[in-house]
Formats: sequence, structure tokens, C-alpha cells
Amino acid sequence: MNKNALHIITVDLAARSYPVICGPGALDASMDNVASLCPNKRLICVSDETVASHHLQTLQSACDGAGITLHPILIAPGEAQKSFARLESLCADLLALEVERGEAIAAFGGGVVGDLTGFASAILKRGTHFIQIPTTLLAQVDSSVGGKTAINMPAGKNLIGAFHQPDLVIADSAFLRTLPARQMRAGYAEIAKYAALGDACFFDWLEANGAATLQGDEALMAEAIARSVAGKAGIVARDEREHGERALLNLGHSFGHALESLAGYEGALAHGEAVAAGMGIAFAYGVHLGLCPQDDHDRLARHLAACGLPTGLRTAPGGPYRAADMIPILMNDKKNRNGQFRLVLPRALGDTFVYQESDLAGLERFLHAQAEQK
Ligand code: GLY
Repeated sequence: MNKNALHIITVDLAARSYPVICGPGALDASMDNVASLCPNKRLICVSDETVASHHLQTLQSACDGAGITLHPILIAPGEAQKSFARLESLCADLLALEVERGEAIAAFGGGVVGDLTGFASAILKRGTHFIQIPTTLLAQVDSSVGGKTAINMPAGKNLIGAFHQPDLVIADSAFLRTLPARQMRAGYAEIAKYAALGDACFFDWLEANGAATLQGDEALMAEAIARSVAGKAGIVARDEREHGERALLNLGHSFGHALESLAGYEGALAHGEAVAAGMGIAFAYGVHLGLCPQDDHDRLARHLAACGLPTGLRTAPGGPYRAADMIPILMNDKKNRNGQFRLVLPRALGDTFVYQESDLAGLERFLHAQAEQK
């Protein structure tokens, strides 16, 4: 494989910097990098049964070719795996394999596998090396990069976790060939997010190329993934621990999490669909507050709709959603500080900022009007 056909983005964190290698064929092209993280010539990889049924053989062949023995640990698919019980049994499995700090544990799958495995890697023997090999679009453009790892609690999602950067991310777009169309669209919402939050030129590019990207043009998809990852890498390098700018990566997430929480996590509303609807609501609220031109909201909504994604409260799957139910969830958002409720809002497409909301009654009236809008 010609490495020039791939996109290689560095997440620049001084001694903890790492490459994200994107594009079709990235796995085979990265096996030297993998081997350098396998001092014992073995790769322990955590995956779920669905991903394994499609792709484990591909990983096995790549490891065989590099003289590495693959040790897969398979878990059931689904968000329920991000639990203390599963974390404990995964750590026990890893200890039984006598994992050393100097060797890497790989997460091979989507966001659930990445978050759980990353957290286990963060705490096992106070931290081992970690490789992300994401197989969903959402994980390739977002969750595999930046070092957020976590499990869920009854009180909410991702409440127990750690920042633990990977040593290597391999985002091979060939793995996306088996992804259902709905999951592709949901992952695309995160791509649109990167453009909407900070890169107006990328949004122009998506308007021109987004449809072909979603219809399976792999070169365009690799470029869309690489541009999204480059946007995220820059933000993570400047603000790894989310003291400031990294909060912008939550565009659409406050409203989106409220919708997800009301829909339940059984699949009625996919995370990316919630993010798309949440971005539409954030832009509409920006217009309502006089912060953002109506045209920018309309362009975003047109693009999301053209990609088969929801654009607001009324079009989000799993509804109807009520404003009065959303407000208490929004008030419990992890991003709130000192009792102040924080939202990422737009000034324009490609220009967003963190807004401190104090008028909860006004926000509830706005959401109520959105829910009623014909
Ligand atoms: N997914 C948002 C972040 O990594 O900060």
C-alpha cells in the first residue's frame, strides 16, 4: 500500500503526540506502527461480536503478515457494555493475559468498544499503551481521537472516565463498507459538526461533495474524515482537557443529549441523529437570540436534510419531544459550570462560541415553539 494515498494527521501533544492514519488500506499500511507498540509480538484487541464477524479476519491477516499474534477479547455489542461490571471483567481478562504496561491494548470497533477499552487501558497497571482501530464513521471522525474514555452510570452517560490518549489511531475507511446506511448518515452528522463549528470552507466543500461522500465515494470519504480529524486534532492539541476551546466540539450535543436521554438508548434515535437535530436547534436558537443570520441556519438545515438527517426538534426520530422534559436534562449537563448553563451557539456557519444561558424560561418558551412549529 502506498502511504501517499493515505491522510496522516498528527495530534500534537509534545511527547504524547500520535498519528491518525486515514483512508482505505490504512490498516495494512500501519502495521509497522502497530508492531512498534507490540514488544511481545502480540496484540490484545477488544472488539464486539458484530464487528468481529465482519472484520476480525482482516485484522488477523494484517497481524499474521506482520508476525504479530492476535489475542481477541469479544464483548456483546451495545451501550450497555459501558458498565462497571463489564469494565471489571475486561480488566480481569486483560490481567489473565499478563498485559504489561509497555504493550498496547487495541480497541477494534465503534465508540462503545473504544470508550470501554480506552478506560481499561488507562487504569490497568496505571496505564498501558493504547491503539484505536475504529470501524464506524462516528468513531473514525470523533470518539477515537482526543483521548476521552468512559463508562456510563445510572445517573448519566460517560460520568466515570479518564483522559487517556491513544498512541496510534488507524481509521481505515474500508471498514465502513459494511456499515448500515443509517449509521453512515449518523456518523456524517459529526463531519457536518466539524464544518459548522469552525470551518466555513469545509462546509462549502460538504455542500458540494457530501451527497457523493455518503453514496460511497471512498476518496471523498477519506478526505472528509481527514478534514474532520484535522479540525479535532488542532482543538485537542490546544485544549486537551476541555478548559476552553474543546467545548466547541459539543456543538449540538447539549440539545442532542437531552433528546437521546428522552428517546432512551435502544436505537429509536441514533447519537449522530441527535447531534444533527441538536445542531439545528442550536442554530435556530442562535437566530432567535439575534446572534446568527437566518441564512446560516437555513443552509445548515438544508444540508442536513439533503443527507437524510433530522434538522430540529420536530424531525428528530423517536419523538414527540416536550420542551418541559428537556429543561431538567439540560440543567444537569456535564458542561455546566458554577450553576451556569452553557450552550455552544453560532455566530455564523463555521464560527461558534460558548454562551452562558441564564434565561431558562426563555429557552423553554423557544423549545416549546420549536416543538409546535408547523
Ligand atoms: N467528542 C467530543 C470530544 O472529544 O471532546
